[in-house]
Amino acid sequence: MLVSAKEMLTKAHEGKYAVGQFNINNLEWTKAILLTAQENNSPVILGVSEGAGKYMTGFKTVAAMVKAMVETLNITVPVALHLDHGTYDGAFAAMEAGFSSVMFDGSHYGIEENVQKTKEVIAKAAELGISVEAEVGAIGGEEDGVVGGGEVADPDECAKIAGLGVDMLAAGIGNIHGVYPANWTGLHFDVLAQIQEKVGDMPLVLHGGTGIPEDMVKKAISLGVSKVNVNTECQLSFAAATRQYIEAGKDQQGKGFDPRKLLAPGFEAIKATVKEKMELFGSVNKA
Ligand code: 13P
Repeated sequence: MLVSAKEMLTKAHEGKYAVGQFNINNLEWTKAILLTAQENNSPVILGVSEGAGKYMTGFKTVAAMVKAMVETLNITVPVALHLDHGTYDGAFAAMEAGFSSVMFDGSHYGIEENVQKTKEVIAKAAELGISVEAEVGAIGGEEDGVVGGGEVADPDECAKIAGLGVDMLAAGIGNIHGVYPANWTGLHFDVLAQIQEKVGDMPLVLHGGTGIPEDMVKKAISLGVSKVNVNTECQLSFAAATRQYIEAGKDQQGKGFDPRKLLAPGFEAIKATVKEKMELFGSVNKA
């Protein structure tokens, strides 16, 4: 069964650890992340961007696959299926398809329009018991066609959106999707602290988890981040392991071309990355 992300994030916020959101792209990704969560007795959030949703033939397919996999793999840790950077229409479509959590990313609208649209998403989500993430201050970089300017959020605007009744809030604090450029100046912890003060005990979300140095991740968690999103890092470790397999000529030995063999090293690499992140975020044995 899928659960809303509310309870697991409330617990994480109280316990000063974070739950990882790991983005999924296909069956291998989903299976690797679910098994790792179970093995580490950790709550987990499966993130689905609108692009990845389309790639997997739609939100309905994704929800059906995830629900069936949770059941057949006997996954008993809390699992939320979460729309990542949803549009307004996308958020409604994901809720109707059976997602247990949605992000409505209205950060590119003016604050008033962001407020209005976020309210409408919250009203529908409340009817269905679904958790909602909102965003203030666009996250930098590009993810699946969603491009953000890398703004630093205004703490007062954060308070305004948080007050609408969202369950978690993503705020830009200098974080970027994808690999960080060499001249990146780090996270703005002063802003993070101000935001947390203004929004009370609302769990905060750190996007762009790939490549943030461990000490910065830990500091962000100590200041109120309860959900850290990781996408690119699993893609990189999957690609590196697959490359190694091909470069070693293993696909040409015996039945090494069988997709179940060809994709196995990448699958194991995703598992290792997810485990490492769960340890760093402190969510192991918190299910
Ligand atoms: P990365 O791809 O940088 O890990 O970011 C993931 C993310 O924030 C998903 O919304």
